[in-house]
Amino acid sequence: MDDAPIGIFDSGVGGLTVARAVSQLLPSESVLYIGDTAHSPYGPKPIADVRRYALEVLDTLVDEGVKMLVIACNTASAAMLRDARERYDVPVVEVIGPAVRTAVSTTRNRRIGVIGTEGTIGSGVYQDMLGVDQTLTVFAQACPRFVEFVEAGVTGSPEVLAVAEEYLAPLRHAGVDTLVLGCTHYPFLEGAISYVMGPDVSLVSSDTETAKDVYRQLVSRDLLAGPASVPTHVYEATGDSADDFLSLAHRLMGREVSAVRLVQTGAIDLPPARA
Ligand code: DGL
Repeated sequence: MDDAPIGIFDSGVGGLTVARAVSQLLPSESVLYIGDTAHSPYGPKPIADVRRYALEVLDTLVDEGVKMLVIACNTASAAMLRDARERYDVPVVEVIGPAVRTAVSTTRNRRIGVIGTEGTIGSGVYQDMLGVDQTLTVFAQACPRFVEFVEAGVTGSPEVLAVAEEYLAPLRHAGVDTLVLGCTHYPFLEGAISYVMGPDVSLVSSDTETAKDVYRQLVSRDLLAGPASVPTHVYEATGDSADDFLSLAHRLMGREVSAVRLVQTGAIDLPPARA
C-alpha cells in the first residue's frame, strides 16, 4: 500500500484527459499533475528538446514524491520513454501502447488512421508499432494546428471544422474504419473529428486504456492507496500564469481542476540520447 500521489504530466492541458480517466478508475488515488506550459507546445519542437523538457518535468515529479509516473503525452513518450524507464525507480506508464492495443482490437477492415503532432508522427512510433501486424495498413497524418486550438480553448468553431476537413481528408479517402487520436489534446476536439470522419469510423483515444495500465501496475506492485487514504488532486504549471492554465482547464473540463500553482523544473544533466 502506498498513499503517495500518481504523477501525471503533459505539455499542457491534454494530459488532463488521462488524469480524469485515472481518477474515475481509481478514486482513492491522489494525483499530482504538471502541465509544462513553459515549453508547450512540444509537437513542433526538435525531439532532443522535448526529451530534455520532459525529463526535467519527470525529475520534478519524482522529487515531489510520486509513486508512479504517467507520461500523458504522445510526443514526450515518443521522445524519451526508454530513457524514463531507465532513469527512475518508480514505474512509468505511457499512452502510445494502450492506444495501439485498442486500435488493433477495434478495427474490422484492418485500415487504421493515426493523427498526432508533427513530433509523434515524424518519430514513426505508431507506424512501427502497428506495422508489426502485417495484416494492418496504417495511414498517419500530423495535425499541427489542433493543439493550438485546444490550448486557445477553441474546440467547435467553423475554423476548427475547416482545418479538420483538410487534415482528415486523406484518411477519409483511405477508408480507415478506426482513427487513433495520437495526442492527448485531441479528445477535446472529438466532436469535430467525429463529425468529419463520420459515424462509421471508431475514434480511439488512450485515456481510459492508459488508466487501466495504471491500475494494473499499481495492483501488481502493491502500490494501491490504503483504505483510509484521503485523495488529493494537485495541479501545477511551469509557465508564468497559473490563472491562464486554470481558466483553460475550466473551459475544457468544468470545475474539476480547483486550483493551479506554479512550479519550476530544474535544469538537469542528461545522458547522451539513445539510438
Ligand atoms: N498532448 C501532447 C501529445 O499527446 C502534446 C501536445 C503538444 O504540446 O504539441 O502529443
